[in-house]
Amino acid sequence: MQRRKFIKKSGLTTASILAAPALASCKDDKKIEATTQSQTIKPIVICTWDFMNASAKAWEVLSDGGRAIDAIEQGVKVEEDDANNQTVGTGGRPDRDGNVTLDACIMDAAGNCGAVLALQNIANPISVARKVMEETPHVMLAGKGAEQFAYEKGFEKANLLTEKSKQEWLEWKKTANYETPINIENHDTIGMLAIDKNGDISGGCTTSGMAYKLAGRVGDSPIIGAGLFVDNTVGGATATGVGEEVVRTVGSFLIVELMRQGKSPQEACEEGVKRIMEKNKDRKDFQIGFIAMNKNGETGAYCIHSGFSYRQYSPKGHENIESQSFFQK
Ligand code: GLY
Repeated sequence: MQRRKFIKKSGLTTASILAAPALASCKDDKKIEATTQSQTIKPIVICTWDFMNASAKAWEVLSDGGRAIDAIEQGVKVEEDDANNQTVGTGGRPDRDGNVTLDACIMDAAGNCGAVLALQNIANPISVARKVMEETPHVMLAGKGAEQFAYEKGFEKANLLTEKSKQEWLEWKKTANYETPINIENHDTIGMLAIDKNGDISGGCTTSGMAYKLAGRVGDSPIIGAGLFVDNTVGGATATGVGEEVVRTVGSFLIVELMRQGKSPQEACEEGVKRIMEKNKDRKDFQIGFIAMNKNGETGAYCIHSGFSYRQYSPKGHENIESQSFFQK
């Protein structure tokens, strides 16, 4: 499974990072004007799972002095463009009718946000979401309207269904009776949060959603407050996993509000997962993971089942950090 690849820990341990000279493992060390003064860590970027290439790209933008919003867009695009990643962008698993439909949202430090829902035939939904944010009076565009908008903005039509994903879908169709499998392996979203050298926070979230979903199904990832929320005075949060449950608790907004009330990112993520589990006392067969970052660059994560991790780049180096979980192994 694709997710198996993600949960492999990098060889770099926290201890080795801390023992190394500052910035030693960061690209283009000279250009970084990193600071940990006043206990603020910046720039910094984190993303769900061990999406190392995506976070490295975002770090490149941040360490060149770029804005958090640009780091987010450039970073998550790496996964959207990776045809081997079957949970995001090109190569994503299709809905039960064989159509790849993509969801994404983006939010900047000023509280501006944009989203696309069930977008087909466009390789970079995060960039379309940004266009919605910056070039329309709206927040969300869905389906055909979103696709038409993308063409008007110069995006090209693309085939998102790779041969691998197509063959797997055809195989699933033989026995699945069009039921959508919901289990802890089903889907993995990339959600990313960044603080730039000015201390501004932005975030983004992009996914192909649940494999073999009903046509038109939209999860949490493009829903501001559910899959992603950023408040530049507090911090940000983003989610991966079964989107329906994240939407029901407005998970990312909840976590940011908990941080506003004084909880650490770690405590807030734990509370977010506990709220979901309170509503699902008889269910164990699904996975959700939250990551969060506060204004000081402190980070945290929590998930339902072990195996979730998040990738972090900061002036201290980069590492894949394993999340604690509600259920133990
Ligand atoms: N979290 C991704 C989805 O549920 O679609």
